[in-house]
Amino acid sequence: MSARLNFASSVLAALSGVAYGAPFQNALLPAGVQADHVHTLWLIMLGTCTVVFIALFTAFVAALWRAPRSTEETPPQTSRTTGTERGATRAVALGAALSIAGLLGLLVASVVTDRALAGLPLKDGLVIEVNGQQWWWQVTYAPGDPSRTFETANELHIPVGRPVLLKLQSPDVIHSFWVPNLAPKKDLIPGRTLTLTLRADTPGVYRGQCAEFCGYQHAKMAFLVIAEEPAQYEQWAQSQHDSAKEPADAVRKRGRQVFMESPCVMCHAIQGTRANARTGPDLTHVASRMTLAAGTLPNTRGHLAGWITNPQQVKPGANMPAVTLPADDLQALLTYLESLK
Ligand code: CUA
Repeated sequence: MSARLNFASSVLAALSGVAYGAPFQNALLPAGVQADHVHTLWLIMLGTCTVVFIALFTAFVAALWRAPRSTEETPPQTSRTTGTERGATRAVALGAALSIAGLLGLLVASVVTDRALAGLPLKDGLVIEVNGQQWWWQVTYAPGDPSRTFETANELHIPVGRPVLLKLQSPDVIHSFWVPNLAPKKDLIPGRTLTLTLRADTPGVYRGQCAEFCGYQHAKMAFLVIAEEPAQYEQWAQSQHDSAKEPADAVRKRGRQVFMESPCVMCHAIQGTRANARTGPDLTHVASRMTLAAGTLPNTRGHLAGWITNPQQVKPGANMPAVTLPADDLQALLTYLESLK
């Protein structure tokens, strides 16, 4: 059964055009305890609604079958038709009672699910702040702890088996953080900090998506959650916390110089250099990420070049301006950015 579901989800992932890696997005294949609760509720609702549908359809067909033919004369009122009326009254009363019971059952299931979602123990939890930007995700690990904090974008790594507390914020418009394999969705509302808890129990790469219309490029506001073994996660967190490495050769040095002299430096930060703007994603370890432009492009040299020189073609309306550079400078810049692992 599970193999068949996995096959179905692979087909769905392939159809949805996920060409890079193997991230998939599927609320019916929970990979964590919170998504599991939601999935169970979904199954209960599907089962209840299926039973109701079949019962209603059967009753409908039976009613059509037993209805008096229009060509027949209206039968005179007899004790038999009074009996039929009494039967109909009883059927309606039974139907109403069953409907109320069904709805009450679903209400109870929802409340139980809600309580289960709120009950995830957060001991030793990992705290991550997520800011919804137009149209990308700014991700801050260990906010408020200068010795451990670092920033990334559109990609969250989390250790398997450890609870995660996400603090969701937005400076301007409402977004919604949704990674169907791991957790229910939660809105990011300007002026408030809402929290979402999740725990990944199966390692994997899970695709998430902004689930609230937030402007022109709402559809291109995706992200990845990479759930990995704790040791692997610690290694990743350590490397992300480190500043960018000093360029190793002349081309990379030239690339860094191009970055510092181009409009890039107005919006992006690279830790360990004087670039420290926070308008766009932190690029200290941009080469370690799987995608560019919030899940829009695979992170390859060619796509990076396209994104730098003509971002409006990729994501019309995005705040990223086109940067026109001489070919040599562009190649040096690409080589430098690709070294930021
Ligand atoms: Cu952000 Cu839709």
